[in-house]
Amino acid sequence: MRFQSLSMTHVCLSSIVSVVPCRRGYIPIASQLGRQNRNVATRNQRGDNELSGAWNEKIERRVPSLNARNRTVCPQAHQELHMNAGLQTMDVNNSVTRQIWRSDKPGKISDLKLVTDELAAPAAGEVQVAVKAVGLNFADVFTCLGLYSASPKGVYTPGLEFAGVVAAVGENVESVKVGDRVLGLTRFGAYASHLNVSPKYLRPCPSDWSYAEAAAYSVQALTMFYALRELGNVQEGQTVLIHSAAGGCGTFALGICKQLKAKVVATVGSEDKVKYLVDYWGADFLSYEQIIVRKGGGKIFKDQLAANLSTLGVDGFDCIIDAVAGDYFHPGYESLTRGGRHVVYGASNFTPTGDKPNWLTLAWKYIRRPVIDPMQMMSDNKSVMAFNLIWMFDKVEKMERFFEGLQSLNLRAPLVGHTFPFSKALDALRTFQTGKTTGKVVLVLD
Ligand SMILES: NC(=O)c1ccc[n+]([C@@H]2O[C@H](COP(=O)([O-])OP(=O)(O)OC[C@H]3O[C@@H](n4cnc5c(N)ncnc54)[C@H](OP(=O)(O)O)[C@@H]3O)[C@@H](O)[C@H]2O)c1
Repeated sequence: MRFQSLSMTHVCLSSIVSVVPCRRGYIPIASQLGRQNRNVATRNQRGDNELSGAWNEKIERRVPSLNARNRTVCPQAHQELHMNAGLQTMDVNNSVTRQIWRSDKPGKISDLKLVTDELAAPAAGEVQVAVKAVGLNFADVFTCLGLYSASPKGVYTPGLEFAGVVAAVGENVESVKVGDRVLGLTRFGAYASHLNVSPKYLRPCPSDWSYAEAAAYSVQALTMFYALRELGNVQEGQTVLIHSAAGGCGTFALGICKQLKAKVVATVGSEDKVKYLVDYWGADFLSYEQIIVRKGGGKIFKDQLAANLSTLGVDGFDCIIDAVAGDYFHPGYESLTRGGRHVVYGASNFTPTGDKPNWLTLAWKYIRRPVIDPMQMMSDNKSVMAFNLIWMFDKVEKMERFFEGLQSLNLRAPLVGHTFPFSKALDALRTFQTGKTTGKVVLVLD
């Protein structure tokens, strides 16, 4: 999904910096790669047709129909819907009054307001879910700040993933029934007490998971599966560098690497996360020596990486999972072994900390963003890949395959670090935005 801040900010900032001379012949990594969901791979060219610009355009055209699912009731729509009473279908006049977070336009987090509206009964082929928990993602923050090019342009509701109970099903829906516990994905709009969605984006919620755990699963698990398995091609015994390892994505990355029997080095932004990580994972998989607290920018980081590699007795990383980028990109790339893959899926050091973006700071960071020379990559025999899973929202078969792949890894239940009542979504977003959270941040509903 297109969550990563570099790609989001790129769109907004590209106009600002168009007056700045580009370094010709170089690829600005992550920003453009992530935006187009393409990869630059010298070792193995993994960008398939589905990830091409043409495909992106195709999905853009489909988006209105996806968003239309969460329509609200208008009198005409009421009349147009035909009655279909029955145990597993809903009387079309049974619209539900729901609570939903909404803003007239992106720009400021505080513009998001909790309102009520009427949600129509699910149409044919749709399912209505009474939402019990909503998982937060960086995309939510960037959507609110107006820095996310994939988000709706006008009135919007953030939120990509949720868990809840099936409250009603429309005609021709057989895969779920009323009362089923489900987890699901939606292309925005999840900050709501009720949703109408396609069953294609629902999965059964494991019986031993809480709703909060279920809402913490889909986005980050799929993101890390795609990064480590599809692009990173991580194999048993390989060495993987995982940035922001205490966060939601980082936790899944560590879980996947553990199951794949890969060796890991983890980075975090602050000292307090180190003990938390060792306690959670156990020192036999992740010891203190395998955790780097990033500080002092790229130069010191390079030395920190060298020290860790020497402790591990390996000459370089086979794969790097990077959502920090910025000053930390090049030291990482330089620490790849030959044949190594650097997978960029975000750039959290672009995250604005306030209620709205500071454009000067963003422009400065954007000008200084990492760039990489494909010719150099060829002689280095290293790859840089980038993606945004949101552009795969329509690739249901692929998602199915990834979900199955995840299931076969038998991961632990997602780690929920922080829960907030639904009514405190703004507090949750502001806490999330600090980067000090561990595990997943989740909104819970009664
Ligand atoms: N491409 C995709 O499809 C996709 C999908 C999902 C998420 N993402 C990206 O993955 C990253 C992690 O997302 P997540 O949902 O899993 O969140 P998360 O891990 O819970 O938190 C992200 C982490 O980013 C780190 N960070 C570094 N600098 C930061 C800053 N200036 N402000 C805030 N945080 C900062 C923090 O950890 P440390 O300080 O410990 O490093 C923070 O815990 C985000 O960049 C997000 O955009 C991308």
